[in-house]
Formats: sequence, C-alpha cells, structure tokens
Amino acid sequence: MNKNAANSPYFALHAERITKSFGETQVLRTIDLNLAPGEVVALLGPSGCGKTTLLRIAAGLLPATSGQMKIAGKQVVDGSKFNARPEQRGIGMVFQDYAIWPHLSVLDNVAFPLRMRKLGRKARETRAREALDRVGLVHLADRFPGTLSGGQQQRVALARAIVAEPPLVLFDEPLSNLDRELREGLALEIGALLRELGLSAIYVTHDQTEAFTIADRVAVMLGGEIAQIAAPEELFAAPASVEVAQFLNIGALIDGQVCAARGFTCAHDHINLPGLAGNSPEGPARILIPRTAVRPDPHGPLTAQVLRCQFQGDRYLLHLGLGGAGASLVCPADRPAIVNSQIPLSIDPDRLRVFTN
Ligand SMILES: Nc1ncnc2c1ncn2[C@@H]1O[C@H](COP(=O)(O)OP(=O)(O)O)[C@@H](O)[C@H]1O
Ligand SMILES: [Mg+2]
Repeated sequence: MNKNAANSPYFALHAERITKSFGETQVLRTIDLNLAPGEVVALLGPSGCGKTTLLRIAAGLLPATSGQMKIAGKQVVDGSKFNARPEQRGIGMVFQDYAIWPHLSVLDNVAFPLRMRKLGRKARETRAREALDRVGLVHLADRFPGTLSGGQQQRVALARAIVAEPPLVLFDEPLSNLDRELREGLALEIGALLRELGLSAIYVTHDQTEAFTIADRVAVMLGGEIAQIAAPEELFAAPASVEVAQFLNIGALIDGQVCAARGFTCAHDHINLPGLAGNSPEGPARILIPRTAVRPDPHGPLTAQVLRCQFQGDRYLLHLGLGGAGASLVCPADRPAIVNSQIPLSIDPDRLRVFTN
C-alpha cells in the first residue's frame, strides 16, 4: 500500500476555480476538482475541450490564468503568481509527448525518478526492477527503447511513472497510438495496477470505454468546464444535462411537452408516455430514452421503424427510428428484425429522464 497516497489526510489533488486563457480565448472556465487519496478520476471529453490544458497545469508544464491548486496538501498553483516547477511536484506522468529517453536503457529510464530523489544506485535498481516486473517487462531491463514496440514503450513509461509511488499520476491519452486490442488489455492492467498500489491518478481520454474501465469517477468535460463528475453507472443513470447525455450517447433525445393529463407528448406526435405524468413540471421538455430502457416486445406501447439490423455474433443491434420524432435509437435484441418493418417496443418508464429548461 502506498503511504504517500492512500493514507494521506490530504486530497491527492485539490483544484479550485482554475481558469486558463490563451490571449482572448478562454480554454478553461472555473474548474473545481477534488481527488481523494487513492482515487482514479478520468477526464472524458471531445477533442479540444481542454483536457490536456488542465493536465499540463496540474503537471506544472503550463501556468494557470487564475485559481488555486494543491497536490497532496502542498500548494503548487496560486493564480498567475506562483507555479511550482514540475520536478517540485513529485508526480508521475504518462503523456504522449513525454516519451521515455532513447539514450537510456529501460532500467535507467525507470530508475530516473528515483535518481531525482537521491536514492542510492542499489536501491534504485531494485525498485526499478520491481516496477518493471509489475508491468511485465523485467526481462527487457537492459534493452534500449528503440528496440521495443509501442505498447512496450508505454509500459516502460508506466513503470517510470509509478516507481516512486508518487502522490499523483497523470495520464494523457497514453493508449491512443496503440491498436484496439492492445488498448483494451492495457487499460484493464493500468486500472488494476493503480488500485493495487493505491495510487491517485487523473486519466485523460476521449474514449468512453477506457474511462469507464479505469476510473472510479468520470469527469465529463465539455467546452472547458466539468459538466458532471460521477461514477460511470451514475453518469448513465442520471446524466446532469442534455449535453452530457448527448456526449455519452446514452439514447434518443426527443422534444415534446409534459402535460399532467397525458404525460409526455412528442411535438411530432406518435409518442405518448403516460407513465411520466406527475413526475415532471408541465411544459416544453426534452426526454431521454436510454438504450437500456427499451426492448422489442410484442405487447409494447411504442412503435419504431427498423432502419438497420446488425449481427454482432452474440446478439443483434437494431437501429431504430422513432415515429415522427426524427430520433433514432440503438437497442440490443436476441432476434433479428426485418429492415423497414415496424416493431413494437416496451419502455421502462423508471429509466426515462426529462430535461426542462
Ligand atoms: N498553447 C496554446 N495556444 C493557443 N491555444 C491553445 C494552446 N494550447 C491549446 N490551445 C487550445 O485550447 C483548446 C483546448 O486544447 P486541449 O487542452 O489540447 O484540448 P483536448 O486535450 O481536450 O483535446 C483547443 O481549442 C486548443 O486549440
Ligand atoms: Mg489532449
């Protein structure tokens, strides 16, 4: 168990009202973020939303425009006045553009953070070998990075990031250059390793599966803000806004009206969801029908048109059009359906969400 992180009385990271502008352009707007010791948070958002910028500010590679930041209780950012240097923060990093050094052996690369901490040679080597063992590369300790595959190089970077058991490890899309199979396996391994060592980490990705695999909580970042931060299941069960639901692609969003007498009525007819009456204020609304809320059912009250039927080996995925609402929905099915036919669906009303504003 890592003494620095998991037993610390401090937040691994405490960010308060962090902003960042490049010239006139504000890239980060009032970021508040607390990471408990031993917690892994994913920053998940589309390209350009400010993920790397926030991570670089945490790493000390970029000054903030305003706001405060502490790492393991130590102030590292105080507005634009103070910005502790990266090496003073003692954090581990696995960045795409923060590669391992080609002129050092794998072992020396991994031992490097310990050299910065003035550990003796023997202790450095022992711990570096332990870290390499954890990522399954101890047999390559004497090799040079140029002779390793992309996946192996990222494992070396991972070993280097954890070797000193830092209070915080930062990852910026570390797997995005690897192919899908390797990515999925490594994501699982990174998550397991962080937990085993009790390390706190921020893991930046635009890949939902990766974020859900690795993180305890996921911060959905949109337009320079954290739109919602929650456990993966909670994000899906209760997205905080239409934008979060859209970004996570949870299901179909349909415009309509909530009315006490008739429940939800779609603006374009065809969809009536009486089950919702009484749960939401009357008036214009958007309703979210999550993929998980619908299923083919001969007695279901809703009708959808089959746009596509995709065989997936263990099941079918039906791409459905919902009435005149112009909304589409993907839903799993045990049996195939005929393209262009109409099929009845049942809906679990407890899973529907209504957004009014
Ligand atoms: N050094 C810079 N100067 C000007 N604009 C920048 C700079 N770095 C990033 N940006 C802009 O800030 C926004 C967020 O970038 P970034 O943090 O890299 O997003 P992400 O990592 O989520 O894809 C983008 O619009 C990008 O063009
Ligand atoms: Mg980025």
